[in-house]
Amino acid sequence: MNIAIVGFGKMGHMIFEKAIANGENVVAIIDPWSPSSEVTAMSVDKKSLNNADVVIDFSHPACALENIHSYAEFGIPAVVGTTGWYDDIEEVKKDIALLNPAIIYSGNFSLGVCAYLSIAKAASAIMNNLKDYEVGIKEVHHTQKKDAPSGTALMLANTVLPKLDSYTGYLIEEKEEDKITIHSERIGNEPGLHELTFTSSVDEIKLSHHAFSREGFASGALVAAKWISDGRRGLFTMDDFSNELLGGLV
Ligand SMILES: NC(=O)c1ccc[n+]([C@@H]2O[C@H](COP(=O)([O-])OP(=O)(O)OC[C@H]3O[C@@H](n4cnc5c(N)ncnc54)[C@H](O)[C@@H]3O)[C@@H](O)[C@H]2O)c1
Repeated sequence: MNIAIVGFGKMGHMIFEKAIANGENVVAIIDPWSPSSEVTAMSVDKKSLNNADVVIDFSHPACALENIHSYAEFGIPAVVGTTGWYDDIEEVKKDIALLNPAIIYSGNFSLGVCAYLSIAKAASAIMNNLKDYEVGIKEVHHTQKKDAPSGTALMLANTVLPKLDSYTGYLIEEKEEDKITIHSERIGNEPGLHELTFTSSVDEIKLSHHAFSREGFASGALVAAKWISDGRRGLFTMDDFSNELLGGLV
């Protein structure tokens, strides 16, 4: 694959290293702020994408909408890992509806997280029968993370909510009887810890996913890049991808 990388920060570097190790060609690296000599352009346009087969974007929420529009307009398949723009998802859907895009976005491209979300969904269906258990979500990330809660915590909430009849939504750092509380912590260099807890007055069940490094996100993004660039068209999420990856068990 000929890959364009947009955003050459921590994730962009990891994707670059993995792509080269996998024998892929990185034909463009776009970042207006990175001091790296490997950067080939400062902004996304048809020329700077350099005829890439696929673009992998782990940049900044502020440019997400404009970048997504560009990928759709140029007809270039894209993996969008950037988080922090999901409040605008309906606007994005409207914006690119007529452009026949090939885009997959996710707050977490780790294949382990794909499996974790499926396990969390199944666990929630079981725990739905035990109404004495309070459901909670906690996420911990490094101190430079721009958004809170994490995109993955929101994915986790949206994955389990349809299975939990007593819950109508989620609240961030607030408590209400029929809402799942999402709590965030920012500590050191933590790559990402997510916990789903079912707590009663006598015990607690905890399902957690702990990323040891950013490597899993980069590997998954490269697998997703192959998936999205094989001719399919649409705006996809990890759910669509998981269905194939996990053999329809999602
Ligand atoms: N989906 C996932 O699996 C996953 C995993 C980790 C991080 N993320 C998300 O990916 C994004 C990047 O994370 P990171 O840890 O690499 O952050 P980072 O701060 O290390 O890197 C972000 C890079 O984007 C660049 N950037 C800023 N504006 C830009 C623009 N207009 N065009 C191109 N590049 C631009 C910055 O200069 C910086 O180099 C964040 O939104 C983060 O939440 C997603």
